[in-house]
Amino acid sequence: MLSRSLQRSLVKCRTKIVLTQAFSCPRSGSSLRTSLLVTNHHQQAPGLPSSGKTTDYAFEMAVSNIRYGAGVTNEVGMDLQNMGAKNVCLMTDKNLSQLPPVKIVMDSLVKNGINFQVYDNVRVEPTDTSFMDAIEFAKKGAFDAYVAVGGGSTMDTCKAANLYASSPQSEFLDYVNAPIGKGKPVCSPLKPLIAVPTTSGTGSETTGVAIFDYEHLKVKTGIASRAIKPTLGLVDPLHTLHMPGQVVANSGFDVLCHALESYTALPYHMRSPCPSNPISRPAYQGSNPISDIWSVQALRIVAKYLKRAVRNPDDLEARSNMHLASAFAGIGFGNAGVHLCHGMSYPISGLVKTYKAKDYSVDHPLVPHGLSVVLTSPAVFTFTAKMFPERHLETAEILGADTHTAKIQDAGPVLADTLRKFLFDLNVDNGLAAIGYSKADIPALVKGTLPQERVTKLAPRPQSEEDLSALFEASMKLY
Ligand SMILES: NC(=O)c1ccc[n+]([C@@H]2O[C@H](COP(=O)([O-])OP(=O)(O)OC[C@H]3O[C@@H](n4cnc5c(N)ncnc54)[C@H](O)[C@@H]3O)[C@@H](O)[C@H]2O)c1
Ligand SMILES: [Zn+2]
Repeated sequence: MLSRSLQRSLVKCRTKIVLTQAFSCPRSGSSLRTSLLVTNHHQQAPGLPSSGKTTDYAFEMAVSNIRYGAGVTNEVGMDLQNMGAKNVCLMTDKNLSQLPPVKIVMDSLVKNGINFQVYDNVRVEPTDTSFMDAIEFAKKGAFDAYVAVGGGSTMDTCKAANLYASSPQSEFLDYVNAPIGKGKPVCSPLKPLIAVPTTSGTGSETTGVAIFDYEHLKVKTGIASRAIKPTLGLVDPLHTLHMPGQVVANSGFDVLCHALESYTALPYHMRSPCPSNPISRPAYQGSNPISDIWSVQALRIVAKYLKRAVRNPDDLEARSNMHLASAFAGIGFGNAGVHLCHGMSYPISGLVKTYKAKDYSVDHPLVPHGLSVVLTSPAVFTFTAKMFPERHLETAEILGADTHTAKIQDAGPVLADTLRKFLFDLNVDNGLAAIGYSKADIPALVKGTLPQERVTKLAPRPQSEEDLSALFEASMKLY
């Protein structure tokens, strides 16, 4: 068994220690080497050729251009002018259409002589029907550029509208993730899209992902392709000052889970199959050394600023940092992927009964995305920590746990307890039972998770239907 201090130094300095220890401890070599190899594999590119390999040997980083700064939204009209845009579609939701972020964008477009039409019918937590409505609008308008002003719901709707208006012959399911859709690669060029995020959560301004609720199956799914990522994300922290407290909290939990899941995801070189053509390499590739940097930094910011950002609407430092953390985590998970909290969240949102989220100005029942992912997090990380426990312990430490005396085999419970305390401090609903689910719903929740293979296969530990049932059951009550 490795000592805690050795484990700790391995996390920091993997490769060198692997070599030194493997040669200097010949007697204890076998068990030592096994642990070290797991750690080492997790960190490094194996550097082997692709021929004959069943698992991948490469990973790719795709990120939108990002411009960050207080007031940067004022530049959007000039950006569109620089792109030569003549006929622009501005997308938002009804609530935001009355708020300063949209007004600032419109003023900038007018000032720079850009013709535009507004689509403000975005549904909060979009569905295939609401995507289709936006797609029709985009097809009719024959736009040469798009601006999305809002949270993930708006940015994702705009990505879908741009995609299908640029590929008018395609059927809706053509680009939707398999097995629900056909998961075809996107080959037609899209128009430029500028995303102006107004929540601090999804990181959608950085990613090639658009999520919607597929009403027919009552389950969330999405479109994932590097081709749909925005051309530019204007990350303007001033917009976060308008966000109600519960939107700050829930979108912040999304950042938390993006960071935790991408950092603990299956490493990219353990993911199969190895694509025969780079166009088939998925956007969600598994944890990798570049994503790791963004995910860990996002987690540090969440640990320092999320509670402050929720509790004080005027804390510009905290809210600005959470806005950055959202983009950081987006860069991390947009290339590494997420796993079980997200896979299990899609039926939690899709099967919503009557739950109405405070601070969300909508007329339909809704479990906000960030809440739907975080409620299973203590159970999920207890389960996944059997693999790569050092990473789970490291994240618990970042979130404030004292891990000096913790044993590596307790990594899961240590992280789960840290998360429970974090959620309790922020008055999060006490588990799935508090948002309307009971034991009787577990089979349907499991059934809705099974088609989410794109993310569930990225969990570091494979899971059976019984495992998923147990995870939902353990998430009914948190405290
Ligand atoms: N594309 C991705 O990579 C990705 C990642 C995670 C989640 N998502 C998806 O994003 C959606 C959730 O997005 P979200 O959490 O950003 O929220 P949202 O877009 O659903 O908005 C939530 C509510 O907050 C309001 N709001 C947003 N910004 C505001 C502001 N600055 N001031 C006042 N009110 C404001 C909106 O009007 C709405 O009522 C879900 O559908 C989720 O599945 C996408
Ligand atoms: Zn998310």
